[in-house]
Amino acid sequence: MSNAKSSRTTITELAAKKAAGQKWAMLTCYEQMSAAIFDQAGIPVLLVGDSAGNNFLGFENTIPVTVDELLPMARAVVNATSNAMVVADFPFGSYESSPEQALITGVRFFKEAQVQAVKLEGGAKVVPQIQRLIAAGMPVMGHLGLTPQSVHALGGFKVQGRGEDGERIIDDAKALAAAGVFAIVLEAVPAQLAAEISKQLSIPIIGIGAGGGCDGQVLVWTDLMGITQKLPKFAKAYRNLRKEMNDAAVEFAADVAAGRFPTTEESFT
Ligand code: KIV
Repeated sequence: MSNAKSSRTTITELAAKKAAGQKWAMLTCYEQMSAAIFDQAGIPVLLVGDSAGNNFLGFENTIPVTVDELLPMARAVVNATSNAMVVADFPFGSYESSPEQALITGVRFFKEAQVQAVKLEGGAKVVPQIQRLIAAGMPVMGHLGLTPQSVHALGGFKVQGRGEDGERIIDDAKALAAAGVFAIVLEAVPAQLAAEISKQLSIPIIGIGAGGGCDGQVLVWTDLMGITQKLPKFAKAYRNLRKEMNDAAVEFAADVAAGRFPTTEESFT
């Protein structure tokens, strides 16, 4: 008898969605509360992204994030969910050296957090790492276009793949698909290029700042909820939780100062 508690989205189901032309949403997640809410809302894939660096840990970008920092977040997201596939991001410095280094990082995320897939940035140059992970039984998601771990090499957070540079991204996407990734995130690339790659490849392409022609879309959850202070051009805030949270904190403080909280309702006899 199996001890399985959950029925999570699988890579096979995502492939079937692509074949059926069904688009789907992915959200980042760094802790249990938002994870449980998004899981219950039916978001099929949750990414414990290294965007935790600038959305949770207070860094300027994703570069300083470590495996030891992401692991407890991934564990919390897995523990709080039962339907979504949880994907852990490989932080900068945790896979570039060799396929063996990538394997060690992947095994840590699979054993210590029990995620169902991992994601890493880069094109043809990380194919050996991808092959090693897949050979060991770990589904891998790729990430092309604006790869934030290379922000300094790219000269800033800039759109990638304009003009002839588009060919490089198409070649990288094909190399990743041939290596066996189950999906690719395309970040900050021209919409037409992303639509073309989505059409050419049989695996799901997940866009962020890549237009409407992709198979899926991903947003950083604090952008979606309007908590992030400076929203990137490609994001959309569906709510203004920054204001809601500010107003609640101000109200609470005022109630405490005025003796309106707690009342007998919130007190024990
Ligand atoms: O780290 C992250 O959140 C990501 C998404 C933006 C795709 O890589």
